[in-house]
Amino acid sequence: MLPRIDFTSTQAFSYLADHYISINEKNLSELFQEDPERFEKFSLYLNDILFDYSKNRINEQTIALLVQLAKECKLDQAIKAMFDGEKINETEGREVLHTALRNRSQQPVLVDGEDVMPLVREVLTRMKSFSERVITGAWKGYTGKEITDVVNIGIGGSDLGPVMVTEGLKSYKTRLNVHFVSNVDGTHIAETISNLNPETTLFLIASKTFTTQETMANANTAKEWFLKSGATEGDVAKHFAALSTNEKGVSAFGIDTANMFGFWDWVGGRYSLWSAIGLSICLSVGYDNFEALLAGAYEADEHFKNTAFEENIPVIMALLGIWYNNFFEAESHAILPYDQYLHRFAAYFQQGDMESNGKYIDRNGNRVDYQTGPVIWGEPGTNGQHAFYQLIHQGTKLIPCDFIAPAISHNPIGNHHQLLLSNFFAQTEALMNGKSEDVVVAELEKAGKSEDEIDRLKPFKVFEGNRPTNSFLIKEITPRSLGSLIALYEHKIFVQGIIWNIFSFDQWGVELGKQLANQILPELKGTEHIESHDSSTNGLINQYKSWR
Ligand code: F6P
Repeated sequence: MLPRIDFTSTQAFSYLADHYISINEKNLSELFQEDPERFEKFSLYLNDILFDYSKNRINEQTIALLVQLAKECKLDQAIKAMFDGEKINETEGREVLHTALRNRSQQPVLVDGEDVMPLVREVLTRMKSFSERVITGAWKGYTGKEITDVVNIGIGGSDLGPVMVTEGLKSYKTRLNVHFVSNVDGTHIAETISNLNPETTLFLIASKTFTTQETMANANTAKEWFLKSGATEGDVAKHFAALSTNEKGVSAFGIDTANMFGFWDWVGGRYSLWSAIGLSICLSVGYDNFEALLAGAYEADEHFKNTAFEENIPVIMALLGIWYNNFFEAESHAILPYDQYLHRFAAYFQQGDMESNGKYIDRNGNRVDYQTGPVIWGEPGTNGQHAFYQLIHQGTKLIPCDFIAPAISHNPIGNHHQLLLSNFFAQTEALMNGKSEDVVVAELEKAGKSEDEIDRLKPFKVFEGNRPTNSFLIKEITPRSLGSLIALYEHKIFVQGIIWNIFSFDQWGVELGKQLANQILPELKGTEHIESHDSSTNGLINQYKSWR
C-alpha cells in the first residue's frame, strides 16, 4: 500500500512556506551573482544527458527542504513498492510495472509471486522476429507482395507514445512507411489510406482493452477497405496484427491470435510504449533500436531507484514542479524541445502527466485542498518563440519551462544547428535575466529616440526576467538517450503523484464522456426530436440533425 501523507501537514511544507517568502524576494540573476558555483551545484548528468536546473528560483536550502518533503512523504517506500510490483494502482487493484518491460537485468520481477520476465522476453522475441520478417520483406501480403506501409490504429497511450518515438527517431527509419490513425473522425483514416495499397499494407490494431470505441471503429473501417480490395477473411491474418491484453476481443474481431502481441494489466495505457504497443516503433526503426530505447529507459530506472534524492534527476524535476505548483501558484508547465523530431514530445506528456495527476481526490478518498497536476503544454522551439513565448516572457503568469536540445543534429545542414542552439541558450538566459530599464533606455537613446519617446516606450520594453527554466542538453537524440529521457519524465510524474497523495495510475475522469457518447449515439439516428438532455445539449443535437 502506498503511504497516505498530507504533504501540506509535514514539517518540511511549513518550512518551505516560510522559505518561499525569502526566495520570492530574490531575483534569479541575483542568485547567480551571489554564487558563482551555481551551475556546478545545480546540474546533474545521466550518461549523455545534462540536466541543468540552476536557472530555478531556488538555493541550496530550497533543495534541502524539498528533499526533506520527499522523505517525509515516504517517497523511498513508494519507489520500492512500485518496482517490487505491489498493487499501487489501488483503485484498479493493479501493479504498476512498465519498468519490468525494460528490465535489462537478470533479476526477476514478481507479480503475485510469479516472475513476469519470461513472459516479457517471449513477447519481445516475437516482436523481434515479426518486425524483422516484415522489414526484410520475408513477410508477404495476400498477393505475394512485400509490405510497404504499416498503419497503427490506436488512441491515447496506444498512439501517442509510438507516434512520439517514431517521429523522434525518424532518422533511424527502416524502409517501411509507418502511419498512425487515432481520431474517430473519418477524415483521419480516409486521408491515411487514400494513397495506400491494401496488398502492401499491414494494420496494427493497438488497444489495451480492445473495446475503445474510436479504435474499434477505425479497425472495422480498415478491415472493410481491405476486404473490398478482393481479399478474403482468410487473408486478414497477413495484414492485421493486434497489440492488446484482450485475447477474446482480438479473436472476436477476426484477428488470428497467432498475430496477437500481448501485454498485461500491470502496464498502464500511457506507460505502454515499452510493451507490445511499441511494435510500430520496431517496424519503424528496427528492433535493435527499440531495444536500445528500452536500455536507455532501464538506465533511467536504475538511476531513479538507486540515487540519493539530492542527485536524482526525476526527483529533482518533480520537486521543482511542486515548488512552483504549490508555492508560486504556477498553473502550467511548458515542455519546449529544440528538436524538430521531438515535435510530439509535449503532446505525449500531456497525456502522461495530465491523465496521471489530474486528480482532486487524495489517496484517502477525500477532496484535496491544494493544487495537484499542472496543465502541460508546449511546441518545438524555435516555432514557439514566434507564437506564445511573448506570454512566457512578459505575461502575468509564471510558467516554468523545460528546454530540451541535442548537441549533435541528425541533419547538420549549414549553420542551422548553431542557429537553433543559439536560440535555445538565449531563451533561458533572457527568461532569467530579462532586460533592465537601464539597458532599454540605452538602446532607445542609441536609436535616437527623444526623452519623451523613451519615457513612453520604456515600460513596454522592460522584461522583468526571473522566469525559471530547466535545460536538458543531450549529446544526441538516439534511441538510448530518448529512452532515458522519457523514463525520467515518467518517474517525475510518479514522484509528484506520491507527494500530492493521489493515485497516478487510474483515469476514471475520462469514463463519463465515453458513457455519455454511447448513450447519445443511438439518438443521432433518425429524425426524432431529442428532449432527453438539458436545453443546450438538446438544442445542439437537434440542430445537427436538421443540418446534416
Ligand atoms: O480514455 C483514456 C484511455 O483509457 C487511456 O488511458 C488509454 O491510453 C486510451 O484510452 C486507449 O485505451 P486502449 O489502449 O484500451 O484502447
